[in-house]
Amino acid sequence: MEIKGKKLVLIGGAGLIGSHTADLLLKEDVREILIYDNFVRGRIENLENALKDPRVRIFDIGGDIMQTDILEAALEGADGVFHFAALWLLQCHDFPRSAFDVNIRGTFNVMEACVKKGVKRLVYSSSASVYGDAVREPMDEDHPFNNKNFYGATKIAGEVMLRAFHHRYGLNYVGLRYMNVYGPRQDYHGAYIAVIMKMLDAIDKGEGPTILGDGSEAFDFVAVEDCAKANVCAMKAEVTDRCYNVGTGKRTSLKELAEMLLEITGCQKPINYAPRSQATLVRNRIGCPKLAKQDLGFEATIDLREGLKRLIEWRKSHKAEVEARRRAVGLV
Ligand SMILES: NC(=O)c1ccc[n+]([C@@H]2O[C@H](COP(=O)([O-])OP(=O)(O)OC[C@H]3O[C@@H](n4cnc5c(N)ncnc54)[C@H](O)[C@@H]3O)[C@@H](O)[C@H]2O)c1
Repeated sequence: MEIKGKKLVLIGGAGLIGSHTADLLLKEDVREILIYDNFVRGRIENLENALKDPRVRIFDIGGDIMQTDILEAALEGADGVFHFAALWLLQCHDFPRSAFDVNIRGTFNVMEACVKKGVKRLVYSSSASVYGDAVREPMDEDHPFNNKNFYGATKIAGEVMLRAFHHRYGLNYVGLRYMNVYGPRQDYHGAYIAVIMKMLDAIDKGEGPTILGDGSEAFDFVAVEDCAKANVCAMKAEVTDRCYNVGTGKRTSLKELAEMLLEITGCQKPINYAPRSQATLVRNRIGCPKLAKQDLGFEATIDLREGLKRLIEWRKSHKAEVEARRRAVGLV
């Protein structure tokens, strides 16, 4: 879809990927960017730069996808919608009923509102979690849904509901299956923080990073700035009724990741190994990036070392904020 002069709504736009997408969209000639977020995880600070641009505003009546009438009001006159809002992997593990409400019913609400308001294109945040553990590598988009956890189940539900809405109502959509996303603004407080942030927290405390398991588990780490780019490409593309991998296609084991972090930070401490947690849900996941390149014109360009350096720089420049939040949630 041509995005010049268009109104775009970013549902969950105050979060990690959404706020970077807002920043990137501002480089385009769009008319309006409306953020619709209930701020359970998203933060106003993530939008600090974006909000300086008069084209960006936060919908001030409400921001929850469970409030369907308010959601529909936000989508009035929208040309394109990005749907980022979801409960995250471990929240879904701990609270499957809430995950059902937000990720499945909430996604239904978004689709229904898009149809009612005549939205021309929806970009849906799915996840590589739909694949579960790899049965072949790299995983292309036809890799089986080998998922066994509830988060992945909610993302599969989203994808198949979208397909049905496309065929029933002509809803034009694309889904993005991000691999392991990292980068500036990544959540660093509360119970649900990602592995890279935990390793960096340990290094900040003068300790070596801890790996749960033997470190051989391997993932495709993709920079959040590249995920934002994938979103913009997906909105601009013409292809519909398809889901795409968003990754680098490169495998990095947790041991390699920890070693890279030690090297970049100059930390001399050894890596600690602890028993693998039951909640560590997937062991192996590397995505094939070819189809996204072919159909969306998207290619990840930030390599892991460069992306980690950006993340570490961001943490340094937000140190006071990081510490204050950690204290607030009792982590220090
Ligand atoms: N970060 C990753 O590694 C990753 C990987 C694969 C898929 N994804 C998916 O990408 C999307 C964005 O991920 P993220 O890392 O930016 O997550 P995030 O938690 O930073 O952002 C999600 C946003 O949705 C908002 N939200 C949650 N519940 C809501 C509700 N009921 N109504 C309105 N807003 C609500 C949150 O406040 C937050 O701002 C999610 O759907 C996530 O499942 C993320």
